[in-house]
Amino acid sequence: MITMEDIIREGHPTLRKVAEEVTLPASKEDKETLGNMLAYVKNSQDPEIAEKYELRPGIGLAAPQINVAKRMLAIHLLDDKGILHSYALFNPKIISHSVEKSFLTSGEGCLSVDRAVPGIVPRYARIRVRATNLEGEQLDIRLKGLLSIVFQHEIDHLNGIMFYDHIDEANPFQEPENAIAIDR
Ligand code: NI
Repeated sequence: MITMEDIIREGHPTLRKVAEEVTLPASKEDKETLGNMLAYVKNSQDPEIAEKYELRPGIGLAAPQINVAKRMLAIHLLDDKGILHSYALFNPKIISHSVEKSFLTSGEGCLSVDRAVPGIVPRYARIRVRATNLEGEQLDIRLKGLLSIVFQHEIDHLNGIMFYDHIDEANPFQEPENAIAIDR
């Protein structure tokens, strides 16, 4: 089971590496790692389990955050309509995106960052992602709203990018043009 002790924090070099593609079909070990990543995200959202194991709640986790420099991510999100979006993916790739941007009004956070970094993180409003799931199926996913932002945050981790890299230091609360503000 993955706990906060397995999650590396900013300053660790793996978080700045471009992660390697996973060889498909995925090995038993890679599937197990990815399954454990999804379990972390799910567990972290269960108040009892989170308290017992001191898990910081998260919506997504990328393999580099557990010091595995491979292109894998897990996302688990119950949206405001009560629809569950649960993904454990190999080699996710943004194949297209909107011109329109979006951002979270409250900014972003990260399990690998033990401090609040205030500021607007501009994201694409809508993206299309191609990836392979744990069952080996190729998926073509269209995403918008918070889920689109979470995907972009996690895919950034596979490219050594932290959310605060996108914040305009000189003007952190400047809203991007043509952008949807998302409250959460
Ligand atoms: Ni993160």
